[in-house]
Amino acid sequence: MPYEVKGVVARAKGQEVSLETVVVPDPGPGEAVVNVQACGVCHTDLHYREGGINDDFPFLLGHEAAGVVEAVGPGVTEVAPGDFVILNWRAVCGQCRACLRGRPWYCFATHNATQKMTLKDGTVLSPALGIGAFQEKTLVAAGQCTKVSAEAPAQVAGLLGCGVMAGIGAAINTGGVTRGDSVAVIGCGGVGDAAILGASLAGAAKVIAVDVDDRKLDWARDFGATHTVNSRESDPVEAIRDLTGGFGADVVIEAVGRPETYKQAFFARDLAGTVVLVGVPTPDMTLELPFIEVFGRGGALKSSWYGDCLPSRDFPMLIDLFLQNRLPLDKFVSETIEIEQVEEAFAKMHRGEVLRSVVTF
Ligand SMILES: NC(=O)c1ccc[n+]([C@@H]2O[C@H](COP(=O)([O-])OP(=O)(O)OC[C@H]3O[C@@H](n4cnc5c(N)ncnc54)[C@H](O)[C@@H]3O)[C@@H](O)[C@H]2O)c1
Ligand SMILES: [Zn+2]
Ligand SMILES: [Zn+2]
Repeated sequence: MPYEVKGVVARAKGQEVSLETVVVPDPGPGEAVVNVQACGVCHTDLHYREGGINDDFPFLLGHEAAGVVEAVGPGVTEVAPGDFVILNWRAVCGQCRACLRGRPWYCFATHNATQKMTLKDGTVLSPALGIGAFQEKTLVAAGQCTKVSAEAPAQVAGLLGCGVMAGIGAAINTGGVTRGDSVAVIGCGGVGDAAILGASLAGAAKVIAVDVDDRKLDWARDFGATHTVNSRESDPVEAIRDLTGGFGADVVIEAVGRPETYKQAFFARDLAGTVVLVGVPTPDMTLELPFIEVFGRGGALKSSWYGDCLPSRDFPMLIDLFLQNRLPLDKFVSETIEIEQVEEAFAKMHRGEVLRSVVTF
């Protein structure tokens, strides 16, 4: 019997989200239905609502989630009903050229559930990042469920499903931050603060946080920033160079997704340093850089899809570190909210009042 639940739907570009009845099919081959226990509100949900990702409205929002597997379809062996799982949005295929070369975190053929969730009138919904978890049950591909220790609270575990994993991974996986490095992070929302936490975890000696909001900079310190720069008050490139002996940082992580902040990252890194773009641009944006500087500065300009994470490797490890009090993931949870308050949470995010509002069920 298909399930009927209340889900948060974005019907049209820029329009406020609404609560709609969503039909969730029983899991088919390779699929699982998960009882969502918590789902964080990420900037990417707002990007969807604003038409910044694509035009496949209506969207079923929510994708930073954890919960318990309710049912699995035929042939599913990786998870079973009762497992506590974090949902991931890159279920690797094991068959594509990236997977076959032993680099599954780049998998070029990640997949979602085959069946569709719909409105009651049959309108097919596009689940955000193939998840759609602002509702108490959702349908995903079984490979999107990563089992972790059930001792972790769902509102904390769920955050690893997107922004926090993207940020930590941008530092430790994509950026390859290691002990002694100097690191700068531009944009200190949930993703940027997670990058700061990841850089500290990896042993960075200096972690410089840059934001336009002093409140965000205070929080950034709490996650391990050793220095902060308000880029409304001073030039961040100069400030980062001043703090690194005049040279620039070894790794600069851009966690805003705008050309001007990317340029700051580009010019604020040391020679042969690394820029990591984890912020997501919108399709209309373009970037102009002096080409000779791209060559002359050497190093690496990298993008970080989902923190180049491998959920089966990274989620259980990070949850274990949290349970050992070595990774304060709980600090990302600014508030827990009801499903009716997602629109309000977008406004709070916009005003910079929260790192993560988390819907709990
Ligand atoms: N690459 C990935 O896989 C991935 C995953 C999740 C989110 N993201 C993206 O990461 C970005 C950040 O997400 P978030 O949830 O942390 O958002 P957020 O809104 O919580 O944080 C953005 C931060 O950037 C700051 N900011 C804005 N303009 C700035 C400027 N000009 N200079 C410096 N700081 C500035 C804001 O004050 C805020 O603190 C978004 O683009 C989001 O879509 C990427
Ligand atoms: Zn693959
Ligand atoms: Zn997200």
